[in-house]
Amino acid sequence: MTGLFITFEGGDGSGKSTQAELLTSWLTDAGHTVVRTREPGGTDLGDELREIVLHRRGDIAPRAEALIYAADRAHHIATKVRPAIDRGEVVIQDRYFDSSVAYQGVGRGLGADDVRRISLWAVEDLLPDLTILLDLDESVGRGRLDEARTRYDRLEAEEQTFHATVRSAYLELAAAEPARFLVLDASGDVASLAAAIRARVEALLARR
Ligand code: TYD
Repeated sequence: MTGLFITFEGGDGSGKSTQAELLTSWLTDAGHTVVRTREPGGTDLGDELREIVLHRRGDIAPRAEALIYAADRAHHIATKVRPAIDRGEVVIQDRYFDSSVAYQGVGRGLGADDVRRISLWAVEDLLPDLTILLDLDESVGRGRLDEARTRYDRLEAEEQTFHATVRSAYLELAAAEPARFLVLDASGDVASLAAAIRARVEALLARR
């Protein structure tokens, strides 16, 4: 049986990691082999690229930034994610190419179509079976980050209008591919969100 590939998307502070963690535990308890991973990062090379793209002090040109995320993604999918899916496992991933389309394509103004094309080339067209978009007002997300952070990474440090643009880009992506996306209001409580996610994943597993 072929595996399942589920990605979480949303702005900073939208609760992706919490929900990815809960879904991972639920699937593991149900007897599935789950690989929980993230971008940027997720591999040794990815951790190095993550450090550069999120924490480098000097400037990074927007196209270079997009290509670093794409390089991280190419290596991550080829060496970790695709092999797990081929083994029939479930991959739960924080962020994937929709992040690049929203942040670099729209946020940085590089063009959604170009950035999507580069990302899909990098991963030989691997699409998720399900993408969960945790939609949240950017100022609420920022408030949550402020409570949790002492320093911001290069993207988090962008101003509020950037994050508002990213949010609307995500909603447009979801509207364009309603079959792949589950959009949830991330201001809801953790347990109800988790239940909505489980219901959708259960349906996906039943169809497999
Ligand atoms: P993330 O790992 O979600 O941050 P944290 O673990 O600190 O909450 O993502 C780091 C940042 O990278 C986030 O601000 C979004 C950004 N990003 C992009 O701009 N493009 C991409 O393709 C990806 C994967 C992330």
